Amino acid sequence: MPVFEAHIEDVEQRALTGTLPAQQDVIRLMTQAYQRYRTLDEGVVADYIPILGRADPARFGLSLVGVNGFVHELGDTAVGFSIQSISKAFVFALVREALGHEKLHEVVGVNNTGLPFNSVIAIELNDGSPMNSMNNAGAIATTALIPGADAQQRWDDLVGGLSAFAGHPLEVDQEVYRSEAETNHRNQALGRLLQSYGRLAVDPAEVVDLYTRQCVLTVTSTDPATMGATLADGGVNPVTGERVVSAETCRDTLAVLASCGMYERSGEWLFEIGLPGKSGVSGGIVAVSPGKGALGSFSPPLDPAGNSVRGQRACAHLSRALGLNLFASARFDSTEGALA
Ligand code: DON
Repeated sequence: MPVFEAHIEDVEQRALTGTLPAQQDVIRLMTQAYQRYRTLDEGVVADYIPILGRADPARFGLSLVGVNGFVHELGDTAVGFSIQSISKAFVFALVREALGHEKLHEVVGVNNTGLPFNSVIAIELNDGSPMNSMNNAGAIATTALIPGADAQQRWDDLVGGLSAFAGHPLEVDQEVYRSEAETNHRNQALGRLLQSYGRLAVDPAEVVDLYTRQCVLTVTSTDPATMGATLADGGVNPVTGERVVSAETCRDTLAVLASCGMYERSGEWLFEIGLPGKSGVSGGIVAVSPGKGALGSFSPPLDPAGNSVRGQRACAHLSRALGLNLFASARFDSTEGALA
């Protein structure tokens, strides 16, 4: 499908969104969701990156950041974890910001593969295309597009950009980095396979290392919420007030998250939750409600696609209770008891 933007550049991009409910309602409804799922005992902690297998399955942190800067945190929101695939969303945004609307569409793609996040077959079935920036191959191809004179410059810009989304400097967890770098043979293979199709303009080992480092930045559940709220806020971090990316970049990033953010479960996620979202294999989830804010969660047990079970359930509950679902068109009026 062609990129349409060249034909509609003269049409102003408008945004029609509502607002979050009143703060006391947000707090009450988040508490309900947290209590309901805190003891849910489903899913399996990932251990294909050996150190992740040590995570405490009982941990559960739930955060919300509104576009007005309101922050609410419940549970284990001080526990650090590696950002993993949630980084893909924000590296996509940085590359989209640097290279424009068309480049990632052309070079990487914006369609779901319907296959798992680390699929090799997906590349083979699609003439070497990784299809989208949210699976591992596509994320490696996206990270390879970060402009910069050398690997150090590209890393500095990457970590600086992700830190601006979070509102504070993010740091590599060296222990997780070592565990992942020693065992990421499949990602090395994906890099080589992309190279064999002429789809990587840089050294695969170097870009896979950069990708691995972006995945092991330490965050708490409030970080993805703040990063997502920046995408919800047209590119301005609502806590720091810093403009990180343009509103157009946010729009494009959220579109890819909606279609590809939860891998082969993206359709079900959209059907149940109705928000652009992204998961990470250490148990993080971000769900973004454009113009309103974002939810961030941390809970290590995952479903078979690699998405946090408690996180998905809490997002489903809150998407409904807070009126976040993009596809829900019933009138929302808190003065008429819609929050009861
Ligand atoms: O490359 C990997 O396998 C990990 N660094 C990231 C995978 C991931 O988070 C998948 N998400 N649910």
